[in-house]
Amino acid sequence: MVHSNLIDGRAVAAQVQNELAPRISALQSRGIRPGLAFVRVGDDPASKVYVGRKEKTCESLGIRSVTHVLPESTSEAELLSLIDRLNRDPQWHGILVQAPLPRHIREAVVYAAVRPEKDVDGFHPMNVGRLMLGDPGFEPCTPAGIRELLLRSGVEISGADVVVLGRGNIVGKPMAAILCQKRAGANATVTLCHSGTRDIKAHCLRADILIAAIGVPRFVRADMVKPGAVVVDVGVNRITDPTAKGGTRLVGDVDFDAVQPIAGKITPNPGGVGPMTIAMLMQNTVRAAEQAAGDED
Ligand code: GUN
Repeated sequence: MVHSNLIDGRAVAAQVQNELAPRISALQSRGIRPGLAFVRVGDDPASKVYVGRKEKTCESLGIRSVTHVLPESTSEAELLSLIDRLNRDPQWHGILVQAPLPRHIREAVVYAAVRPEKDVDGFHPMNVGRLMLGDPGFEPCTPAGIRELLLRSGVEISGADVVVLGRGNIVGKPMAAILCQKRAGANATVTLCHSGTRDIKAHCLRADILIAAIGVPRFVRADMVKPGAVVVDVGVNRITDPTAKGGTRLVGDVDFDAVQPIAGKITPNPGGVGPMTIAMLMQNTVRAAEQAAGDED
């Protein structure tokens, strides 16, 4: 058998989703169907694909969903008014406004408008604050999914030197906050690198776990990875490739072919982090429904 160091995100996501099934059934036996409302503004093709996958997963799990597609020209006030309506509607336990939003809409204002108890994305300032304080709240799905993926793949996080590349609000910053928590399954020493970091390579070479969420195609090269390190590729970058159908194709933030032989474990891309993001979104939605039903967390 060929030894594989691949971390199978699809298999782990399926496991997380299977574990949700009895919780969804328990809610249904009490007459509650978890509900998740999606909002998409404009025509971003990647957002269309992502929301489509999330809807399909809802359907397969018996989670009710609706998708509001608004035109690019939608005003911030119109979007806020839809969020207000969804906030008040008890059939929607979670609300997800897909990023990116058109430039004339302030994302911070929109995310602060979603009720914290329906904020299954973990983007509301209240949930961001809870994460920083180590209090229970909703965690952003991609970094929470990465932690889950590492733990279920047998990676020891506690005490590890972790390097996170990228300081975005959706992945990099919350990733660092999650992994440095003083609790089981975290407790790592985290270095957050970004465009202002002087010697990224030197930091990367010290990492036991290297998480790339920087948005630069194949940024992580073989000479930046310590032999045996665990490498997580969050990037989804479209590059031109005349040999590909349509003239473009997707690549991650990691030079996969060169890095795989050096890494102890590595996430494929696709099939690594992406499915975990969706699984954690489902988990947050079920939890929001349980909490709305008065269950203790
Ligand atoms: N765009 C890219 N990732 C995400 C995510 O996790 N949630 C939302 N709402 N938008 C995104």
